[in-house]
Amino acid sequence: MSLPNDFPSSVRLGPGQGGLPRLEIDSPLARAEIYLHGAHVVSYAKTGEKPLLFLSEKSYFQGGQPIRGGVPLIFPWFGPRQDGADVPAHGFARRSAWAAESVREEDDGTVQVVLRLKPDPMTSALFNDSWVARYRVTVGNELTMELEVTNTGSAPFRYEEALHTYFSVSDVREIAITGLEGTEYLSAIEEVPRKRQNGKPIRFEHELDRVYLNTEATCVIEDPGFERRIIVEKQGSQSTVVWNPWIDKARQMADFGDDEWMRMVCVESGNARDNTKEIIPGERQTLCVTLRSEAL
Ligand code: BG6
Repeated sequence: MSLPNDFPSSVRLGPGQGGLPRLEIDSPLARAEIYLHGAHVVSYAKTGEKPLLFLSEKSYFQGGQPIRGGVPLIFPWFGPRQDGADVPAHGFARRSAWAAESVREEDDGTVQVVLRLKPDPMTSALFNDSWVARYRVTVGNELTMELEVTNTGSAPFRYEEALHTYFSVSDVREIAITGLEGTEYLSAIEEVPRKRQNGKPIRFEHELDRVYLNTEATCVIEDPGFERRIIVEKQGSQSTVVWNPWIDKARQMADFGDDEWMRMVCVESGNARDNTKEIIPGERQTLCVTLRSEAL
């Protein structure tokens, strides 16, 4: 793997868990870890504050397997592929080795990392070979993640994507999510999948697995136990996925602790299902998500 020569002193590259290459960012503003495996932001904490992201104690850290927690990067399909093909869930981006393109520190202390993924024989067997994906992560008082997809070929294609963010919460049963009131969603677990959220914030009393559609809304996770609210702001995204596996599904997942469902919630910004994207030759499309927290 090649890295730029002017590597800032607040960033270190070394082996992380499982020996996977990891960028550790430790600046006056924040700390973060980014694995090149999956271009995976595994942790982020503003200086003096609790970590924003949840990471399972049972996560795999091995080539070919996704990491459970942080921000898995979902591309180019979401969940099981819509054509029913027998392919890995949530696409190949989270299982692929990304290249580091640039790492730099700005005058204001923010650190920006750019990672890149290009087609290889494995991805081309599953998808087309006419794209390049760039992922720009900016670590400062807030965390900004931008996934940019370019069509390098001569034909349009369609793709899904998501920043599958696992947030650390005090107790999922005590939190509320605002921003999706009245929004239509597709549920992966309800008998009638297409429904509409009522006019109230989302609360958790059972498993929830929903793709909210046609929404650009900012979501806010109110967490009285941690005395904070997390603000999820996005651009270039029409879908927001909300997921908590609850008790039974947690037990079925080998890479997730039986009780960890209480301490996490996924609020994922992306484009999925009805909001699948189409990209024409030469076009570049960007999904951008900014996370920040405030004291309650
Ligand atoms: C969510 C999906 O985004 O990811 C759920 O909506 C899925 O259906 C969850 O269970 C976790 O997926 P995976 O492949 O990481 O176990």
